[in-house]
Amino acid sequence: MTEPPVLLEVENLKVQFKLKRPAMFMPQPVVHAVDGVSFKIKRGSTLGLVGESGCGKSTSGLALLGLVKPHAGKIRFDGTDLRATSAHDMFPMRKRIQIIFQDPYSSLNPRQTAGEIVMEPLVIHQVGSVAEQRARVAELFSLVGLRQNQMELFPHQFSGGQRQRICIARALALNPEFIVCDEPVSALDVAIQAQILNLLCRLQDELDLTYLFISHDLAVIQHVCDEIAVMYLGTIVEQTTREKLFSQPRHPYTRALLSAVLQDGATQKIERIRLKGDIPNPIDKPPGCRFHTRCLHAQELCRQREPVLSEKSPGHWEACHFETTA
Ligand SMILES: Nc1ncnc2c1ncn2[C@@H]1O[C@H](COP(=O)(O)OP(=O)(O)O)[C@@H](O)[C@H]1O
Ligand code: SF4
Ligand SMILES: [Mg+2]
Repeated sequence: MTEPPVLLEVENLKVQFKLKRPAMFMPQPVVHAVDGVSFKIKRGSTLGLVGESGCGKSTSGLALLGLVKPHAGKIRFDGTDLRATSAHDMFPMRKRIQIIFQDPYSSLNPRQTAGEIVMEPLVIHQVGSVAEQRARVAELFSLVGLRQNQMELFPHQFSGGQRQRICIARALALNPEFIVCDEPVSALDVAIQAQILNLLCRLQDELDLTYLFISHDLAVIQHVCDEIAVMYLGTIVEQTTREKLFSQPRHPYTRALLSAVLQDGATQKIERIRLKGDIPNPIDKPPGCRFHTRCLHAQELCRQREPVLSEKSPGHWEACHFETTA
């Protein structure tokens, strides 16, 4: 079987936020939110981006849609360099790339009905006649498991899970190829999470969708991703297939994250590792390996030199100076 082609390729992506100077002669603080991230996603597959809150996951996702401006790096989508694309040429491209956010309530306009919300992208992009738009909305409602008679209801009349279904229907309206799912189930009860994850997986199969699936929760990522990239303080520290990440995690940070989620029995080789301290401030990242302030294996070299993400075994990438898997 031939490998599916790469749909999205991100190379050395950097996003900085410049903050206000605390005082006139003080230097301007810069948040290095995304600090050299590279990955590829094959068509029809899901790459999971996992890491603690504040490590730059959402900013990476927003940068792919042009919703925050990168200051360096390349984003190639189906061969097109998105950072070099003009606003005019970007408009049709926006049909092909969509996003679903964590909080379905705040991302829905409370004054629009569910039907109007799902129809809005069709109106903005002037797709079809009014009758065709209505028919498409009806089709989208059934695709995501909502009833036709719910079209006239307002967001507050739906449960959290149903609101996320509205967001998914809106994201699908223009027949996208690629969807950034930014913590799409984090605001939902565990029982509802499974329903939404199943829906996203079914839609992926039916519509040949490609996902970047962002979550702080490895237990969620585990169910939906083909490949997983583990992010720490603006960079990827480990990336490989889901199977390898869970069975042979390499990086000390991944091992700590995994040890916290895997239940007894599944963790034969991983003892519970408690991370010390909090994630450092991305305005003032530690020198050398950015994980050294919390790493149980840190040595002098780690404080001096930053490890690069390299292929330690076929298809398994890690940024660490040492072999710490044993
Ligand atoms: N608009 C912004 N202005 C300033 N700092 C920001 C902005 N958006 C995000 N950040 C900072 O960038 C870092 C990465 O944030 P984010 O991408 O939201 O992380 P995650 O999604 O992994 O929780 C955090 O330190 C956050 O405070
Ligand atoms: S390079 Fe050093 S500090 Fe960084 S993860 Fe590896 S052992 Fe830990
Ligand atoms: Mg986020």
